[in-house]
Amino acid sequence: SRPTRREFLLGTAAGLAVTAGAGLSGRRVMAADTTLTVSGLDHAILPGTVTPDMMSFAADGPPPVLRLRRGQPFTVDVVNQLNEATVVHWHGLRIANAMDGVPYLTQPPIEPRQRFRYTLTAPDAGSFWYHPHCNTLEQMGRGLTGMLVVEDDENPGFDQDLPLNIRDFRLGEDGRFISFYRPRAAARGGTLGTVSTVNWAVEPVYDLPAGSLVRLRLAVTDMTRVGIYDLAGGAAQVIALDSNPLPRPMTPDGIILAPGQRADIALRMPDAEGETVTLNLRLPQGPKPLAHLRATGASARRALAELAPLTPNPIAEPDLANARILDFVFGWSPGGKPPVAGICGTLGYTFWSINRIAWDGDSPDPVAPLAVLKPGRSYVLRLRNETPNDHPIHLHGLTFRLLRSNKRPIPPLLTDTALLQSGETMEVALVADNPGDWAFHCHVIEHQKTGLTGYIRVE
Ligand code: C2O
Ligand code: CU
Ligand code: CU
Repeated sequence: SRPTRREFLLGTAAGLAVTAGAGLSGRRVMAADTTLTVSGLDHAILPGTVTPDMMSFAADGPPPVLRLRRGQPFTVDVVNQLNEATVVHWHGLRIANAMDGVPYLTQPPIEPRQRFRYTLTAPDAGSFWYHPHCNTLEQMGRGLTGMLVVEDDENPGFDQDLPLNIRDFRLGEDGRFISFYRPRAAARGGTLGTVSTVNWAVEPVYDLPAGSLVRLRLAVTDMTRVGIYDLAGGAAQVIALDSNPLPRPMTPDGIILAPGQRADIALRMPDAEGETVTLNLRLPQGPKPLAHLRATGASARRALAELAPLTPNPIAEPDLANARILDFVFGWSPGGKPPVAGICGTLGYTFWSINRIAWDGDSPDPVAPLAVLKPGRSYVLRLRNETPNDHPIHLHGLTFRLLRSNKRPIPPLLTDTALLQSGETMEVALVADNPGDWAFHCHVIEHQKTGLTGYIRVE
């Protein structure tokens, strides 16, 4: 059966307040095929203004939350109603390379008024997201970032499930877009947005049953911001990062999330009607509230201890004793010719490189892969950041395990996006078990689009 629109948009309504009456307890959200119409639209982001020329994966509002079921094929027809080419990438999903949505590397760009059918069979459960990989800075900047949830077979016992798509927009006071970046900033930390939003709303308030157990799914889909997040009020635990369950839950106090990263938080709502829990972005000048969760009704009197642990995802453990070491150096561009201006666009500058090679733009004739991996073999990727800036390094199609850093103790997390701090060298390991050409880039989109991109081939 097809989910109703309400189930589909569960927790992502565009309005300021959402009554999250459609709980998930005991009810399965079935995977169903869907169509994403990539559209231009006008939408109110800043209260009292209208932002013209936004872009969404729906004609009439923010991008829908896609809900898949682990292991079940899910068909998404992407219909391009923009006046420019696009392509859609499913961030974090270990799917077939032909479905990965990278221009030329895995498919031709989807031209205006054309469509492309993606069939996604997700091996892992958790919180993911989707976004274009063509003219990426502007298309994401105008709104094209959506969340994707892969449901597990068993519900660990939550009453509610609330995806929170966290991102900034670059808007002037009149609500209109301002320039998507400044070249000086693109050569440094990147250009920050001016208006912080959750699910396309400024400080939304979500009504949730008092005393209930809520699964918050945070995804930072911003182009630039490496943020520190706190959840204030209520009892809560971080139970997964970047779609992968944590062996031991952490307190949601100072969670660092870089562009592309996700956190799942188990929240027990306060008992008293009207009491709120606030998601804050920690800024030097103090906490900035991003969203509020308000308790309603009589307390359900649930307890965090009633939740079953999440099932780990089936990710092969690398054989470290026999792993080959591959070196990747993230640095300045060696100079040379400007990037090619193909139909997926260019910012016109080259500032960055991987292994001294600056990506020269999306073209039918890409440069050679950074490395060629043998199927089924284990590898240690030694990621060295020569620059004074932070780079969230993202690999498509494969999940890796963090091993060590020369700068700080790091937990052995499984992820697809690792935040490499300034001057840091980190070692991560993986099994090359998904064949194809997998994009490998910084998720600060200005960096990605000015050289800090390449790809790894698994034969
Ligand atoms: Cu979310 Cu190639 O990225
Ligand atoms: Cu990705
Ligand atoms: Cu970067």
